[in-house]
Amino acid sequence: MKGIILAGGKGTRLGPLTKSVSKQILPIYDKPMIYYPLSVLLMAGIKEILLISTPRDISLYMDLLGDGKELGIDIKYEVQEESNGLAEAFIIGEDFIGTDNVCLVLGDNIFFGQSFQEKLDIATSLSEGAYIFGYPIEDPREFGVVEFDSQYNVVSIEEKPKEPKSNFVVPGLYFYDNSVIEIAKNIKPSSRGELEITDINNEYLRRNKLKVILFGRGFAWLDTGNPTTMLKASNFVETIQQRQGFYIACIEEIAWRKGFIDSQQLKKLANKNIKTNYGKYINDLLKNDLSK
Ligand code: G1P
Repeated sequence: MKGIILAGGKGTRLGPLTKSVSKQILPIYDKPMIYYPLSVLLMAGIKEILLISTPRDISLYMDLLGDGKELGIDIKYEVQEESNGLAEAFIIGEDFIGTDNVCLVLGDNIFFGQSFQEKLDIATSLSEGAYIFGYPIEDPREFGVVEFDSQYNVVSIEEKPKEPKSNFVVPGLYFYDNSVIEIAKNIKPSSRGELEITDINNEYLRRNKLKVILFGRGFAWLDTGNPTTMLKASNFVETIQQRQGFYIACIEEIAWRKGFIDSQQLKKLANKNIKTNYGKYINDLLKNDLSK
């Protein structure tokens, strides 16, 4: 399975923070926002990754992550010229995806919770169709909203409905079989002028090939859409890291635990940031291999 991280957009809801830099490179506590979705792909065991960003910002991500070799992965880069919607990722990424299945994660989505690895394992085992997720939130109107029947079968997914039919929204993490490329090429722009991921999901639903995995209580899917939610996400990460001593989205740690890199390489990566708690944390992993 291949992985795509979409880090496009103008970040208009975060101005002036985003006047000259990409939203997804801004910090969430002690690391760039993009580390969080990248860590999701690594946890899913995905080593071939395409990062898509704007013509202005793509070089920032190249500087930050390079070709991925130091993490034992392979990162390629493509540009999304205009904000034409999430679904365009599969058209831009057509050659990269080739004949594989693909996971798309949005560059500003943060996931954290105990059962996450098991849920990812289910989604990556996909042989055909699509896996998406459902997450209950207080006010779903800004998101894709899943409507269920009384048996919890999905009836429809609506993008930013004024009157949501449930509290379950679709987070920015999607697993598709290869037909997503053909589906993406055939959907039409929505009233906001974008190729909507929701239209892709509805097409899988129409074909009876959409599965939704629900997140329950005790799972965090955090928003980074405005300065307040960004601050809350930072505070959340700081709280967990301080309390437990385990880092969230430490990409070096995950690459090491997944066996993408060996201990010698992890030591090298730790030394790059040894003056920070982040680097010291990585270094300490080698001394005392705390339980995961
Ligand atoms: C997009 C999707 C929406 C999804 C959300 C998750 O919204 O269109 O269905 O729930 O990401 O972050 P957008 O960021 O385009 O407003």
